[in-house]
Amino acid sequence: MKSVMPGAEAEYTDNDFQRVRGIAFEEAGISLPVSKKTLVYSRLSRRLRELGYHSFHAYLDFVKTPAGQAEMEKLICALTTNVTSFFREKKHFEHLEAEVLPHLACTARSGGRVRLWSAACSTGQEPWSMAMSVMSVIPDAPSYDIRLLATDINSEVVEQAASGTYPASETDGISAENRKKYMEPCGDGKLRFAGPICKLPAFRVLNLNADWPIKGTFSAIFCRNVVIYFDDETREKLWRRLADRLEPGGFLYVGHSERVATTIQCRLEQVAPTIYRKDS
Ligand SMILES: C[S@@+](CC[C@H](N)C(=O)[O-])C[C@H]1O[C@@H](n2cnc3c(N)ncnc32)[C@H](O)[C@@H]1O
Repeated sequence: MKSVMPGAEAEYTDNDFQRVRGIAFEEAGISLPVSKKTLVYSRLSRRLRELGYHSFHAYLDFVKTPAGQAEMEKLICALTTNVTSFFREKKHFEHLEAEVLPHLACTARSGGRVRLWSAACSTGQEPWSMAMSVMSVIPDAPSYDIRLLATDINSEVVEQAASGTYPASETDGISAENRKKYMEPCGDGKLRFAGPICKLPAFRVLNLNADWPIKGTFSAIFCRNVVIYFDDETREKLWRRLADRLEPGGFLYVGHSERVATTIQCRLEQVAPTIYRKDS
């Protein structure tokens, strides 16, 4: 079979799709089900067009060469799904503000180090929401050793997240009070985070399924709506690594349809359907 899509401009065979699946898994731990064959075509055909390739075969040969390394990153970016929103799954932020941050305020005010991690931050709505939660409980947080690491495998979304700039029409999830406190207009109908809150987050590109050049442990990790793209083995390995990176008594927040494997629940006690606490 040559093309899976009627009228498709680039040649795309079953074998090409299998190659993309192999790359997604090897490079990012992402498992693409067979049902995503058409989606893969629509996500990647723009890349082929921009580079002037008329077949996936030739494009995939290119990304496997040393000269194609930058394009390999673009391919992975194109395969990721980046849907997110401010204060998504609000209960997590309520829990963070009520159960976690008051204790961390004491730690920080007595000179301690506090680290939070948004481990698949997409375009930044999650870490900026965490930062607003921190500011609401610890208004002087930027003057303490409190930092929020925000990472994602997709360099394009990380860049957008770091800019802290969003169309005003996409900031509905932020209360009017918080918008006024933490954001400023920056033209084109956009708002950007401004002022002391900007000292809290640090944005980095990081593949959760590769080495983590990160030091120390975290009081809370948000790893939400990303393991749905991984297979069971990859997920379980990630839960173990995240458990290692939580300090005793630290919390792990997962997406609404995600659960930590029961084999790891001896280290992470489930305190709510999608919230886990590491043993003290
Ligand atoms: C659906 S978004 C979730 C964003 C946010 N955590 C939330 O719940 O709103 C999934 C994110 O996971 C990222 N991702 C996928 N595979 C990854 C990997 N191996 N390492 C790090 N991030 C990954 C994608 O780039 C995407 O931005």
